[in-house]
Amino acid sequence: MDTALLPVPLAPEISLHLADGKVGLFDGTGGAFSSDVPPPFWQFVWAGGQALARYVLDHPELVRDRSVLDVASGSGVAAIAAARAGATRVTALDVDPLAVAAVARNAAANRVAVDTRAADVADLDLTAEVILAGDVFYTRTVADRMTSRLRRAHREGARILVGDPGRGYFPERLFTQVAEYVVPVPAALVTGVWEMRATIRSS
Ligand SMILES: C[S@@+](CC[C@H](N)C(=O)[O-])C[C@H]1O[C@@H](n2cnc3c(N)ncnc32)[C@H](O)[C@@H]1O
Repeated sequence: MDTALLPVPLAPEISLHLADGKVGLFDGTGGAFSSDVPPPFWQFVWAGGQALARYVLDHPELVRDRSVLDVASGSGVAAIAAARAGATRVTALDVDPLAVAAVARNAAANRVAVDTRAADVADLDLTAEVILAGDVFYTRTVADRMTSRLRRAHREGARILVGDPGRGYFPERLFTQVAEYVVPVPAALVTGVWEMRATIRSS
């Protein structure tokens, strides 16, 4: 699939190398969504990532002078928003090496510095003062892995913000909603930004 440098609909301050807006992920990959090769999630900017980017850009005090880690970064939209908002150090992590390359390219296009790391979130050996995760609760396996790692980082003191448009595996009981946006992905999606609650006892 070809990409073009396009503004993010909900955060037009940021432009990303994205698939032409007329194709969906399934059509654009010729149905390869079910193959062993990871689909090019990074060619799309997901509702959760857009909402998170908007929230960070509108509330720069959340990340200003802080270290930020964007897990499952995809195109890097939330990481780039954090860098623009004044984070001291931003790292973007994704299991897909092609996504990590896309983040580097997109960060350069937006003239911001973002460190990249190709790794599974379960093997994450670094933390940050603020951790962002956009649209990571779309399958049981991915959601469980993300939830477990985010809870550990939260226990260790990180502030956790996620963007989620009501995906089936979002563990809402662990979070408090802090914002809601109508995100113009092909069909508009109402998408919340949520912060992990402070009072969690069991793991
Ligand atoms: C739906 S996309 C969201 C991308 C971006 N955060 C956004 O909102 O636009 C999910 C991303 O999670 C990544 N991912 C899936 N499982 C992962 C894991 N175990 N560790 C790290 N990244 C993972 C995928 O490669 C993909 O880039």
